Amino acid sequence: MRNPVIVALDIADPVRALALARAIGPHVGAVKVGKELFVSAGPDIVRSLRADGVGVFLDLKFHDIPNTVAKAVAAATRLGVQMLTLHASGGSAMMRAAVASAAEAAAALGQPAPLLLGVTVLTSHDDASLAETGVAASVDAQVEHLARLAASAGMPGLVCSPLELPRLRACLPAEVQWVTPGIRTGNEKADDQRRTLSPREAMAAGATWLVVGRPIYAAPDPVEAARAIAADACAAVRPAMG
Ligand code: C5P
Repeated sequence: MRNPVIVALDIADPVRALALARAIGPHVGAVKVGKELFVSAGPDIVRSLRADGVGVFLDLKFHDIPNTVAKAVAAATRLGVQMLTLHASGGSAMMRAAVASAAEAAAALGQPAPLLLGVTVLTSHDDASLAETGVAASVDAQVEHLARLAASAGMPGLVCSPLELPRLRACLPAEVQWVTPGIRTGNEKADDQRRTLSPREAMAAGATWLVVGRPIYAAPDPVEAARAIAADACAAVRPAMG
């Protein structure tokens, strides 16, 4: 089985981030470069990671007019990233433009297109803060609505909480890939993640990829933590698809 663990490099210093990625790279499926590291270090951090053979998930959550998102996705594809995120609330035209642009840019380079992942409703929202933005639906209903919209626009993957997975998988096509943060092993100090599952539980719930930050990069031995988390994830009994 492929290694489903993606380590969030939530570290602003590119020297530290690269050293960590080099050490744990052989034990994980990819690393996630988010806004903090990308804005601090620029696209060179992605080039360095790719030069070291590390898979990159570029988590910049694009949300703009279709033409602008399509160009940003093409640029990310040329950087050689394996996965990237877009806000599904950007709409179906934006998502379709992104999917077409990734395919076109990848074909021109003779490489596989990156996996485009839709983000639905940020977990920082509750029903009241969503209503504030003009969305009358509950968070649960809006998550499902945007997940369906993303899948129907051709997005191959979605980001969601591991606790939402069974409900969403049941109403979306079996080929959708699911990326879930909110993973904890029970060995960490308490932090801001409240609704969590273990690696094995999240895989058993149907996750394709697990995003894990502090349980790996803040562990006393990040390589050992990455190995243990990957072993736990790979020990899960996979649910039947469909
Ligand atoms: O350190 P931790 O394992 O909590 O890191 C999880 C990663 O997943 C972070 O990069 C965080 O921004 C991201 N994430 C999350 N919860 C979401 C969406 C993304 O924790 N709902």
